This record gives sequence, C-alpha cells and structure tokens, in this order.
Amino acid sequence: VIDITKLYALGNVFTHDPGFTSTSACESEITFIDGDKGELLYRGYPIDQLAEKSHYLEVCFLLLYGHLPTAQELEDFEMRVTRHTMVHEQITKFFSGYRRDAHPMATMVGVVGALSAFYHDSLDINDPWQREVAAVRMIAKVPTITAMAYKYSIGQPFMYPKNSLDYASNFLYMCFAVPAEDYEVNPILARAMDRIFTLHADHEQNASTSTVRLAGSSGANPFACIAAGIACLWGPAHGGANQASLEMLREIGTVDRIPEYIARAKDKDDPFRLMGFGHRVYKNFDPRAKVMKESADEVLGLLGIENNETLKVAKELERIALEDEYFVSKKLYPNVDFYSGIILEAMGFPTSMFTPIFALSRTVGWISQWREMLADPAQKIGRPRQLYTGATRRDYIDVEDR
Ligand code: ACO
Repeated sequence: VIDITKLYALGNVFTHDPGFTSTSACESEITFIDGDKGELLYRGYPIDQLAEKSHYLEVCFLLLYGHLPTAQELEDFEMRVTRHTMVHEQITKFFSGYRRDAHPMATMVGVVGALSAFYHDSLDINDPWQREVAAVRMIAKVPTITAMAYKYSIGQPFMYPKNSLDYASNFLYMCFAVPAEDYEVNPILARAMDRIFTLHADHEQNASTSTVRLAGSSGANPFACIAAGIACLWGPAHGGANQASLEMLREIGTVDRIPEYIARAKDKDDPFRLMGFGHRVYKNFDPRAKVMKESADEVLGLLGIENNETLKVAKELERIALEDEYFVSKKLYPNVDFYSGIILEAMGFPTSMFTPIFALSRTVGWISQWREMLADPAQKIGRPRQLYTGATRRDYIDVEDR
C-alpha cells in the first residue's frame, strides 16, 4: 500500500484510476475481504460462522458497535429497533404518488429519502445521540418501507409491523399477510430470510457504500445518504444482478440450452454476461455464494421443491463455467447473487423485489460505514480529481458567425 495522501501538496499531481481498481478511499475496521482466498469477515468474524450461528440483528449490532453483544446488550438493541418499526402515518401517502407498476426500488429511493422530512430529531450529524437514533430508525424502518413498496406494487393494503415477531419473520409477515386472513410465518423461510439479510449486510467499499460515504462526506443527512446508496445499488452490475441473474436462469430454462449462453458470454461482440458471475474483488469463490447455494438446497428441500428446474440450471451452469477455460482464466466465479434469487422466488417474492431486499439487508452496512466515516478525524469531503480530455481554451463565437 502506497500512501499518496500528500501528493496533492506537491502541486497539481494526482493519480488516475477509473473505477478505483487500485485506490483505497478510507481506513475501515468493519469488513475485511481477501479476494484471492475468497474470505469475508465482519469485524473479524467469518461470514459462514455468522450465517450459521448468529442472526441478523446480532450481526447489525456487531457491524455498528464492533463487538458481539452480551445477552443484555442484544436484548436492549432488539428492543430499541423494535420500538422504531412503524413509519409516520403520512409516509403511507407517499406511495400513492407512484404508479402501481413502478419498480419497488424507484419507490424506495423516494420514500427512504423522504424520511428526512419527518424525523427532524435525527438530522444533526454532529450530535452523537441523533446519529445513533438515525441508525436505529433506519434499521427498523427500511423493512417496513420495503414491505410497503411490495404491497403497493401488488395493490394490497399495507400491513403494520407485528413487533412480537423477530426481524425476518416480521418482514415476511408485512409482505405476505393480508388483513382478512390468518398468516403463520414459516420458520424455515424466516431462517432463510434472516441468512440472506446477514450475507448481504456489508461488503466494504462497494459502489453503493462508496456512494453513501461520498454523499455523507458533504454533511448530508443520513436518510439522504441511504437513499443515494439505494439508487446506486439498483444498477444491474451491482445489486440489480440478483434480479438479472434469476431472469437469465429462467430464460435459459433447461440445462441443454446452457452451452448456447456460455458461448454468448464468451463472445466479445455480444454484450451478454453471465449474471451472478464475476466480482471486482473476489478472484475465487464468493464465500457468500457457497452459503447461499447450501441454503437454496436446504430451503427447496424443506419446501419439497428440490426438483426446481431453475436450481438445476444454476448448478449445471456453475459446473460447466468452472471447467471452461474462459471463466477459469478470468477467475470468474458465482457471486452472492447467483443463488439468492432462487431462494427468494421459492419464498414467493417476484424478481422486482430481489434488489429491494438487498437494499434492506445492506442498510446496516451503509449506516455503519457512514458512522465510521463521521467519527474519522481524517474525514474530508470526497472530491475525486479528473483527467481533462476536452478542448483547450477557445474564445466564444457569436451565433451568427458559427
Ligand atoms: N460474464 C462474462 N464475462 C465476464 C463476466 C461475466 N459475468 N464478468 C466479467 N467478465 C469478463 C469481462 O468481459 C472482462 O473480459 P476482458 O478482460 O476480455 O475484457 C473480464 O471478465 C473482466 O471484467 P471487468 O468487467 O473488467 O471486471 P470488473 O471487476 O470491472 O467487473 C463485475 C466486475 C461488474 C461484477 C462483472 O464481473 C459483471 O458484470 N458481472 C455480472 C454482473 C453481476 O453479477 N454483478 C454482481 C456483482 S456482486 C454485487 O454487486 C453484489
């Protein structure tokens, strides 16, 4: 690592690194990735151990505060989050301003940003108490907003949170319960949902997290910063890949059509890419994909739908790609999004909800990174330089002389 922070003091000297492939923008103690080994640690704890032994709200505490909570700390934290799951009643009116067929991500960008118009006691970023309340509010309210975005898109009434349920069960309840009918959350699905939240909770300086940090570096309020993160996550090269991946698997349809799609992915004249494959940092298996694959097997097995054609296509596609010279030489492996869609589909979510669920899960990562940035004495406004390639100085020409 070369520290070039003092380079600018030498005059107009800077590095040029499109896509930040070799540039670190901050110091962080939150998440560690070893892309060559395929290792992911939250505050030092391996992701597979957390996915197996912990649960999402405990992971939220860990990411936010840096240590695993004691039983008392966890109970207090869960109580604080639960107390904030409701949204201001006027927020429900925001939804009706959107078309019903709007993508739920479009709705979420707007509604999460609008929280700053309601919670005026969590906007002062210089007040540690307000920062703390903003963090807890966001973790508590984003699932409610995500479920409301879903309900709005299918024309059903909103379900208020049911605070006797755990975090993942409450989210499933708000999405799938309807007022006139009893609804029991399936514990298998709740556990799988919780694991999906955990696996997506943070991933150091990815595009959306960097967006949150950049927005926050100007002093913008936390709700505005998270809305910026949601907007960035939407892109198909980032969080939008889980939707794109399942749509691709469905389009392939049967295992005999896989070679055709592998050939397309290798053809440089065809813009097609295998969605859910490849990663900027992992040049080995994405450890989250391994857990997700096991989880897909488990969930579909327990639901009695293990002969699911999409899962068969996914496994066979993975097998063929991992033996193919093109994918091997470019170190392209399945990423977290490759199997998550299969589980979400089995739970009953439409593809349009996949990226909103990713946004919900990542909210804690964004907010943890935002807090860390504000606490860093070296923090300055983010302001990349550019390599100007436009015209040199020229004089204005009156329109009649052009
Ligand atoms: N299918 C086919 N070829 C691929 C794929 C793919 N999925 N991904 C990368 N490649 C090839 C590129 O064509 C390029 O080939 P070249 O060297 O011959 O030009 C090479 O591998 C390197 O690819 P880059 O795009 O330069 O790698 P980068 O690190 O910039 O991109 C990214 C990473 C965006 C994830 C890319 O692999 C991709 O588009 N994957 C599909 C989308 C996806 O699954 N995104 C989710 C990422 S994980 C997340 O955000 C949660």
